[in-house]
Amino acid sequence: MKRMEDKVCIVTGSGRGIGRTIALKFAKEGGRVVIWDVDINSAEKTSNDCKNLGVDSMWQKVNVTDRKEIQKNVAEIKEKFGRIDILVNNAGITRDALLNQMEEKMWDTVIDVNLKGTFNCTQFVVPVMEEKGQGSIVNIASVVGIYGNMGQTNYAASKAGIIGMTKSWAKEFARNGIRVNAVAPGFIKTPMTEKVPEKVISYMVKRTSLRRMGEVEEVANAVVFLSSDEASFITGHILQVDGGLTL
Ligand SMILES: NC(=O)c1ccc[n+]([C@@H]2O[C@H](COP(=O)([O-])OP(=O)(O)OC[C@H]3O[C@@H](n4cnc5c(N)ncnc54)[C@H](O)[C@@H]3O)[C@@H](O)[C@H]2O)c1
Repeated sequence: MKRMEDKVCIVTGSGRGIGRTIALKFAKEGGRVVIWDVDINSAEKTSNDCKNLGVDSMWQKVNVTDRKEIQKNVAEIKEKFGRIDILVNNAGITRDALLNQMEEKMWDTVIDVNLKGTFNCTQFVVPVMEEKGQGSIVNIASVVGIYGNMGQTNYAASKAGIIGMTKSWAKEFARNGIRVNAVAPGFIKTPMTEKVPEKVISYMVKRTSLRRMGEVEEVANAVVFLSSDEASFITGHILQVDGGLTL
């Protein structure tokens, strides 16, 4: 029996990067995968790639900041599959600047997508999970939300907020059979980190015990584990996947 056999899994921001790899890993494990992304071309591609692995999959254009869009799409999933078992709140963005150069819009946008987006999706998905009395939510935080980072006031605040919500929801939903955990990646090779200056990357690599950046698969492995029944006694946990960056 595969670990995600027949489970209905939503992954936000799964058109590319870490989210795409999580979605494909769920598909390899037999899950029915729902791709949410603002970028419809990449969403469709990830969904087709999931289908090519032999599982049912659908994609929906969902901006995690748009509550009406989330509500409508959750209703469609319920109609099609009758249930939602797993939600991975992965969609996230950066708008980096030192505090004295950070415009209000940069703060608002990052908080709106990363923090409120996670709140929005969870608020609409949890009632569907509750109907079956089971579910697993994995939020993608960051080591930056634990340790802070220069130039990332907005991003660090959003990820620290996600950690706070993870622990609160773990307490709040436990009685309904829903587990809530977070994965906090270190520096991972994705289109997001392609924008980071080489100087910063090599500084981070030097500070990482394993002396390299992480691969998307290494984050996806942790997400699939926490989502699966193998993690049935784990809730409220923040799992750092950072190669020992913070040791
Ligand atoms: N790459 C890293 O080193 C790293 C480290 C720590 C945490 N993370 C976190 O992992 C997650 C994924 O990061 P990534 O590196 O794969 O990023 P990415 O930029 O490669 O991919 C992000 C995806 O999210 C989608 N997206 C953006 N805004 C959205 C919105 N409003 N609604 C729906 N979808 C939206 C994008 O279209 C894209 O497909 C993010 O939450 C990020 O903060 C990444």
